[in-house]
Amino acid sequence: MRVLVVGQGAREHALCWKLHQSPLIKELYAAPGNAGIAAVADCVPIGVADIVELADFAEKLKIDLTVVGPELPLTLGIVDEFQKRGLTIFGPTRLAAELEGSKVFSKEFMRKYNIPTAEATVCSSVVEARSALKKLPAVIKVDGLAAGKGVVVVNTRQEAEDYLRMVFEEKRFGNAANRILVEELLLGEEVSFMAITDGKRVVPLAPAKDYKKVGDGETGANTGGMGAHSPAVILNGETAGEIMRSIVMPTVLGMEAEGRPYTGCLYVGLMLTANGPRVLEYNCRFGDPETQVQMLRLEDDLADLLLKASRGNLADTKLNWKKEAAACVVIAVEGYPDDFLKGQEVAIDPIADDSVVLFYAGIVKSGTKLLNIAGRVISVCARAATLSEALAKVYEAAPKIRFQGARYRRDIGYRALGQRRASE
Ligand code: AMP
Ligand code: GLY
Repeated sequence: MRVLVVGQGAREHALCWKLHQSPLIKELYAAPGNAGIAAVADCVPIGVADIVELADFAEKLKIDLTVVGPELPLTLGIVDEFQKRGLTIFGPTRLAAELEGSKVFSKEFMRKYNIPTAEATVCSSVVEARSALKKLPAVIKVDGLAAGKGVVVVNTRQEAEDYLRMVFEEKRFGNAANRILVEELLLGEEVSFMAITDGKRVVPLAPAKDYKKVGDGETGANTGGMGAHSPAVILNGETAGEIMRSIVMPTVLGMEAEGRPYTGCLYVGLMLTANGPRVLEYNCRFGDPETQVQMLRLEDDLADLLLKASRGNLADTKLNWKKEAAACVVIAVEGYPDDFLKGQEVAIDPIADDSVVLFYAGIVKSGTKLLNIAGRVISVCARAATLSEALAKVYEAAPKIRFQGARYRRDIGYRALGQRRASE
């Protein structure tokens, strides 16, 4: 079959890498793809938000399955556009993608279906927010997509006032922040739980642990993710079962009851609190960098799985995972996630260990040079018998990626291994 992957990050590179191994696939395309994806797929220069052009392309090339990576095209309705034209596509419709696109919608949905999450108040003005901020610290979240910058933990009244001014007076987030949530701060360990669903049936992916903060020891700003490993280690089988029963299944059934059946990959960001798992957020797509480590461990044919889910035909699919562990460290540019340099030349020294896999993120080719176009540049990944071996391989390879201002966390996996790596 012919498959199109929409996206240009390391997540999409990992998806293409795995799809490329499927004997079912005769032609693999990526839009727009990147310099790494180009090794396994034909890259077509169509942007992820150009959903009509993407559907035109899929029609013209008779694409049998389109797989959507990022949330933007999903929230813009790419699935609706494809389905209108009778094209098979993996991902939720625009209405279903509101689980990620609107934090107010998802909070009200969780309340309605008794899905465990943090207490929160919806506020539309500074006055309402002030009165909701009774207890500090608290979390403030803007309703809409805000490129990962719409969530802040406020420790003092002053911090809260500063953020509220940015939201309501300076309108830093535009309409995405017409409404905000003032939310209880949850304490515990974060874990990512993903599942593939055809709208009714659900197959969990191997849990992964993502490291979201930019700095070692969970310090600094939130990012898209600086590293990951699978197994998650902190999540045992019993808790995973509880998450399926009390969170994932009620979400899928609830969305169906709401008339917004959810098909695709459902990503639940969780806090494992002393009172059990609580939902921090939903994402309507595969996680990045969680997908990179999951694809290294998945035994089964990804094309077959995603096609079945897209056709409402998941039946009682069960997935098989390699017993080995996989680890990933993201090489980013100094300054990420705020201001960082683009257009820098990226050099990759030879890596002798062939169990190391590089998934390219924001890298394009210009002539013979590789240039960075985003803050996260490469995911360095490896699989090995144990997590500590996988991490050792990744950390051995990481310095081989060289560019001005290259930086990465030195402590991915440290909590899971119960040890802290020495910071630089
Ligand atoms: P979100 O976009 O809602 O996932 O929030 C981004 C990050 O903020 C999460 O990955 C958590 O690290 C943190 N966060 C969000 N909500 C809470 C909460 N209620 N309590 C503690 N941390 C939170
Ligand atoms: N790793 C976090 C995310 O994909 O949103």
